[in-house]
Amino acid sequence: MTDLHNKKILLGISGGIAAYKAAEFSRLLIKQGATVRVVMTAAAQEFIRPLTFQALTGNRVYSELFEADAQNAMDHIDLARWADLLVIAPASANTIAKLADGYADNLLLTIALATQSRIALAPAMNQQMYQNPASADNLARLRDRGIQLWGPDEGLQACGETGPGRMLEPAVLLSHVQRLFQPGRLTGCRIMITAGPTREAIDPVRYISNRSSGKMGYALAQAALDAGAAVTLVTGPVCLQPPAGLRVLKCQSAEEMYQQVMSTIGEQDIFIASAAVADYRVDTIASEKIKKSAPQMQLTLTKNKDILAAVAALERKPFCVGFAAETSDLEQYALSKLEKKKLDMVAANRVDDPQSGFDVDINALTVFWTDGSQQLPRQSKTQLAIALLELIAQRYQRIHQP
Ligand code: PMT
Repeated sequence: MTDLHNKKILLGISGGIAAYKAAEFSRLLIKQGATVRVVMTAAAQEFIRPLTFQALTGNRVYSELFEADAQNAMDHIDLARWADLLVIAPASANTIAKLADGYADNLLLTIALATQSRIALAPAMNQQMYQNPASADNLARLRDRGIQLWGPDEGLQACGETGPGRMLEPAVLLSHVQRLFQPGRLTGCRIMITAGPTREAIDPVRYISNRSSGKMGYALAQAALDAGAAVTLVTGPVCLQPPAGLRVLKCQSAEEMYQQVMSTIGEQDIFIASAAVADYRVDTIASEKIKKSAPQMQLTLTKNKDILAAVAALERKPFCVGFAAETSDLEQYALSKLEKKKLDMVAANRVDDPQSGFDVDINALTVFWTDGSQQLPRQSKTQLAIALLELIAQRYQRIHQP
């Protein structure tokens, strides 16, 4: 069990019957050595009084955005900076919706917007509210921004209905916090991850690209951070918010991605190429928008540099993990990439299933290395990334720290 001494946890409590469980949660955090400060919304105070948390944590409870004595106390910016982790438990449907839309009309939401620290939510609401597409959409948007979602549980609810929406039990929430602060398997390790598509310009308004959303690469970046690594994310154009706490290098084209990767690859221990890099670029990019007067037009394409192969060919090369995106003969193509590009591992996925792979939250991988392989069955990209990082850590440590 990870000791939480020196860990500063800001516990946000929003309005819901599960607010009473937050008292036990704060007690468990303190028992493990954490310093806990509590922020309550007005609705939360309808369910449980601030005095309970003041007594349990030994600290005053914050609730007002504009406190009269704020200059001598912590205002929202100070609290946002103070926290190592913001956990909102319970996170009501209303707070989740406002977080998703970036509202800042109470102290808790303002802190959530202002903080650079990791944020975790323990959703708690009626099962119909949880299953409403609006809530599902809000939660998916928050997950995409790197916010951790812990739960909810399924079972009998306070309203008498049964289904998903119960807040996780305090002991389970504590184990999530401990996992987050565990000295990671990859502590001290420097990892570069490429993510997303590249765009190859045709003219000032058009480009060639692919369906990559960056979700797999961003999930890997989060998992690597959670495992304690120092992470550099080289990202093509995507609509995702990178997790806090990593170095982000942005690029558009394959050539730009190549330059960004090569600029700091010498510092890296592990390189994971999950980006869907365009294999070809347009030979001559038109300087003005091409007019549609001709009945046909032809584009001449030139092969791009293979970034992964270039990294794997370096004299002082990092441990190289490639991806293989295939629509048939997965194993054959993946093994051929492993050998030809001289990789340490290759993670192969099928990209002909609309429910898995490109641009969805689910994926499945078969991972190959020279003398072995492992299936990572269909699951969320978040979970898959954790499992892949674990495999990478095992192989990397076998080679570098035998
Ligand atoms: O982004 P998502 O929507 O979450 O989707 C995830 C994904 C399907 C894009 C991801 O899981 C994946 O498969 N990424 C690799 C896609 C790809 O380009 O595969 P490939 O088989 O064409 O390339 C093989 C490897 O060489 C890849 O590691 C690729 O990053 C690398 N490569 C390819 C071409 C090139 N010019 N430079 C490269 O580095």
